Amino acid sequence: MMILIKTQIADEILGGVKTIAPACELDRDAILALLEYPPDPAMGDIALPCFKLSRTLRRSPVQIAQTLAPLIGGDCIDRAEAVNGYLNIYLSGQYLADRLIPAITAEGDGYGSPRIGEGKTVVLDYSSPNVAKPFHIGHLGTTVIGHSLKKLHEFAGYKCVGINYLGDWGTQFGKLIVAYRLWGSKEAVEEKGIDELVALYVRINNAISGNAELGIAPDTSLADMARAEFHKMETGDPENIALWKWFVEISLIEYQKTYKQLDITFDSYKGESFYTDKMPAQVEKLREAGLLKLDDGASIVDLEPYGMPPCLILKRDGSTLYPTRDIAAAVYRKNEYHFDKAIYVTSAQQCLHFQQWFKVVELMGYDWHDQLVHVPYGTVSVNGAKLATRTGNVVLLKDLFAAAIEKVTEIMEEKNPALKGRTDIAEAVGVGAIVFYYLSNNRIKDINFSMEDALSFDGNTGPYVQYTYARACSILEKAGADGTVPASLTITDPLEKTLLVTLSQFEERVRMALRDYEPSYITRYILDVAAAFNRFYHDCAITTAEDPAVRATRIALTGAAKIVLGNAFGLVCLRKTEKI
Ligand code: ARG
Repeated sequence: MMILIKTQIADEILGGVKTIAPACELDRDAILALLEYPPDPAMGDIALPCFKLSRTLRRSPVQIAQTLAPLIGGDCIDRAEAVNGYLNIYLSGQYLADRLIPAITAEGDGYGSPRIGEGKTVVLDYSSPNVAKPFHIGHLGTTVIGHSLKKLHEFAGYKCVGINYLGDWGTQFGKLIVAYRLWGSKEAVEEKGIDELVALYVRINNAISGNAELGIAPDTSLADMARAEFHKMETGDPENIALWKWFVEISLIEYQKTYKQLDITFDSYKGESFYTDKMPAQVEKLREAGLLKLDDGASIVDLEPYGMPPCLILKRDGSTLYPTRDIAAAVYRKNEYHFDKAIYVTSAQQCLHFQQWFKVVELMGYDWHDQLVHVPYGTVSVNGAKLATRTGNVVLLKDLFAAAIEKVTEIMEEKNPALKGRTDIAEAVGVGAIVFYYLSNNRIKDINFSMEDALSFDGNTGPYVQYTYARACSILEKAGADGTVPASLTITDPLEKTLLVTLSQFEERVRMALRDYEPSYITRYILDVAAAFNRFYHDCAITTAEDPAVRATRIALTGAAKIVLGNAFGLVCLRKTEKI
């Protein structure tokens, strides 16, 4: 919708430009690319910074703005003003209302979709925890950015396949098997689940490397035992395989509790183990293509011509590595899903890994290599402390969520003691607070997590925007709104227009978020809508407006704001809270 209006404006400006300089070669897209949204509605709803046209038009920005202003017109424009070399365009609130409110109401949960994905498939590899290792706050990024990207693509019409590439194979299972046989029991694992597995894993790591603090001397014989047990796993030893399967199952039960809190489901849980028998064919292909080189007994692909260290394919003992498995998995997924794009969401520490194996896929001659996309994110610390994964000194995701839910429950008991269904709402708001706080940052930025900031009901937080959504719902309920839009709408207040302008920008933000793989554009947009809605709510009487036409318009506008907020919530894993 806004995209249409922006295009109309661009056409108006282009018409003006052609009047000034009939021979110039500017087109609509060139003008569109120049248009800006002023930070303050006092400076217009859309602006053209005219200095960008100075060279082409051989005039000063001030001259250009002044010449263009009287040439700009049309239904959608209220007026155009020339201010210091800017052409500030004020849209017509009435025009926006007449088109936008019926369109949003009719399209409902489809409103804002750019519809660019029809007939295309996207595979998203995200979350992918390593079984038996703690599922901690470091995984929050891949889990929620990954899911948000999936939602964004689905919204745009892509067919999406969410893959949880579980780290369900590797030497850590050798360690776990040894630790379990030495110190564990079936009862303890059944009772404590993944906590017990992680405790065993931490204990054996401490024992192998030693831990001066705990007074443990290093014992490398345990590492040898672990390697032997893993080797037995690789050769199909039934007892070890049964233990491994059980460990994976126990871990999955736990992960799924967390996914459920986030409303995340995956389409596939094919983890690393699945690709064991798919690797030899790719290694063979690499060898046939003459890409493998021996380096101190290991097989590598030389990437020096591309400014990268070599990609390791086989260790000296012939065992495969992380890149080998990723290559085999990508080939499998291409054949299985015929993707148009495959997205991998991991921490930025893995950037080189992805650059390397993407290059290897290219060298192997797979013409879809440019459909592979790595989406990295920055590191997370909690109240200033970095994470130590192997020693067990970590903030687990489930504990983080539990703490948030508890704190929200306390606040809600104070604020709204009569509320029904509090448990579900507290979960939605507590988990939503963490997700929103996390996704408010540019994904590549390192963030320091502060529980206090995340959970605040004031300020730019999840609880605040969910509360705004609930407010819109309660207004509609109070008004007995049935979702129909009155035949004629009456716009009387500038705050109504500001809200309409914000609502009209949704599709554009969705496109930007898709283009840059950046969910934070959506969280920021949600804040814009919430701010515009709350200003409107504070200054304009809605259900109590005297003029029935004004009242009906404001109720319909509230309905439209609710739809847009709800659609945007869906894109960033926020639940729609009708009551708080
Ligand atoms: N399991 C890995 C880890 O926790 C992440 C896997 C990412 N996906 C991939 N295809 N490599 O570090």
